[in-house]
Amino acid sequence: MEKYLGKKNIAVLISGRGSNLTSLIKYSKRKKSLFEIKLVISNNFNAKGLKIANKSKIKNQYIKYSNKKNFENRSLKLLKKYNIDLICLAGFMRILSKKFIKNFSKPILNIHPSLLPKYKGLNTHYKVIKNREKFSGATVHIVNEKLDAGKIIIQEKVRILKSDIVKTLEKKVLKIEHKIYPKAIIKLITNY
Ligand code: GRF
Repeated sequence: MEKYLGKKNIAVLISGRGSNLTSLIKYSKRKKSLFEIKLVISNNFNAKGLKIANKSKIKNQYIKYSNKKNFENRSLKLLKKYNIDLICLAGFMRILSKKFIKNFSKPILNIHPSLLPKYKGLNTHYKVIKNREKFSGATVHIVNEKLDAGKIIIQEKVRILKSDIVKTLEKKVLKIEHKIYPKAIIKLITNY
C-alpha cells in the first residue's frame, strides 16, 4: 500500500454477527480517523452485520455464495467501483482464492481469535480450553491463500483463568479483537 495520503477506503467482508464491524465503524467515525468504511459485503443474507451497516448508512451488499468464482467476481467489481484500498475480513467464513487475492492486488486483513499460528480454523476457544492453555488472545494478520496464515500485524494475549469456559473466554478475546483490529489497520496504513 502506498504511503498515507488522505483517508483509506475499507471494505469489510462478513458472514454474521458483525461486532468487529461495529468496532471498526465506531473507530472510523473519529475525527482524525485514517480510514473510512465504504462497503460491507456478506455471503449470508441474514448476517446481523448487514443491518449494522444499514444503520450507519454504509453501502452494503449481500452476494450469494453459489460458488467461489461467482462470489469473488461480483465482489471484485464492487471493490473496484468503491475504490477500496484495503479489505478487512471480520467473521467472514470463506477462504478467498489465490486468484482473488492477486486480482485485488491490495492488502487484505483478517482477525482470528487465537494466538496464531496456534489454533487455526474453527472452534478455537473450545480447543484452547480443552488443552488447558494458560493464555489465548487475538491476532490480526495479512490474508494469503492458506487458512489463518500470512504475516502477523498485531497480536494480543489474555490470561485464561481456571474458571473460564468457552463463553467467558470468547467474551474476553472479543474485547481484545475490538481493540486491536483498528490498531492493526492504522499500523498497516502508516507503515507501508
Ligand atoms: C470473531 O471472533 C473473529 O475473530 C472471527 O469470527 C468472529 C466474528 O465475530 N474470525 P463478529 O462477527 O465480528 O462479531
